[in-house]
Amino acid sequence: MSNLNIIEEIKKLKAERGAVILAHNYQRAEVQEVADFTGDSLELARKATEIDADVIVFCGVYFMAETAAVLNPTKTVLIPDRVAGCPMADMIKASELRKLKAEHPGAIAVCYVNSTAEVKAECDVTVTSGNAKKVLSQLPQDRKVIFVPDCNLGSHISDLLGRDYILWPGFCPVHAKITKSDIEEARKAHPSAIVLVHPECPKDVRDASDEKLSTGGMCAFARDSKVREFIVGTEVGILHRLRNENPDAKFYPVREDIVCEDMKLTTLESLRDSLKYMKDRVQVDEAVALRAKNAIQAMLELS
Ligand code: 13P
Ligand code: SF4
Repeated sequence: MSNLNIIEEIKKLKAERGAVILAHNYQRAEVQEVADFTGDSLELARKATEIDADVIVFCGVYFMAETAAVLNPTKTVLIPDRVAGCPMADMIKASELRKLKAEHPGAIAVCYVNSTAEVKAECDVTVTSGNAKKVLSQLPQDRKVIFVPDCNLGSHISDLLGRDYILWPGFCPVHAKITKSDIEEARKAHPSAIVLVHPECPKDVRDASDEKLSTGGMCAFARDSKVREFIVGTEVGILHRLRNENPDAKFYPVREDIVCEDMKLTTLESLRDSLKYMKDRVQVDEAVALRAKNAIQAMLELS
């Protein structure tokens, strides 16, 4: 069946089910095109609180769909491929965080949204890469802060705010592939371009770049910048949105192989089947969801 036919089927099923399709910026181009809304983790979490539909189909990785389910306990949240996970989110368990909290009594526990609902439930507040600086800058200065699981985002904010955090050694294996010499080579090839990298990149890569931004932040920066050439240091899926929104600009991936395989698991076929068979439903234990929701809502209020 051609893509056009599958897209028609998706549109028909979406109307029948009263569904809204959300997609992360790293999704395949054809999935982004059929979605009602494409965005970064913060934009999608906000959108999930505003949706007036019975069914949300979340094209992204599991923790993102789980966040939408936590925020919408009465709605049906579907993920087209439940195997789509985030290796970084799985680098800390709730039991490990509880142990860390016990070692630092009185510390504020903050987690990156790239974490499980169980880990969020142990935290006072969550952050995304788009609001981490704003949220963390508003926390009381006289208390220690535990930040999990991404040590790169944590050290980036620590550098920006001049504060020490108790960091967990989690990281994104996709962004960890980008090296300082990749940035240097890309600059040599495109000397007029601005280098945008995601804060999940290692420190030497961040230091070699011009701007450290969430995927949504990259879109806003490219839209507003006078410069029209950009080297992009993050997952290549973002290039679709950047190029669509800025037809007058040039975007060069720092490397073509910066691909999050989990993000690419969702296809037009799996999205269609998700709507057709109403699968896979994302369900979170009620008690965990309630506590995780408090941490997510604290973030939304501070950002
Ligand atoms: P953004 O919030 O910037 O979209 O990042 C999500 C993510 O998983 C980056 O790897
Ligand atoms: Fe997780 Fe990295 Fe994939 Fe983002 S790019 S979903 S942090 S593995």
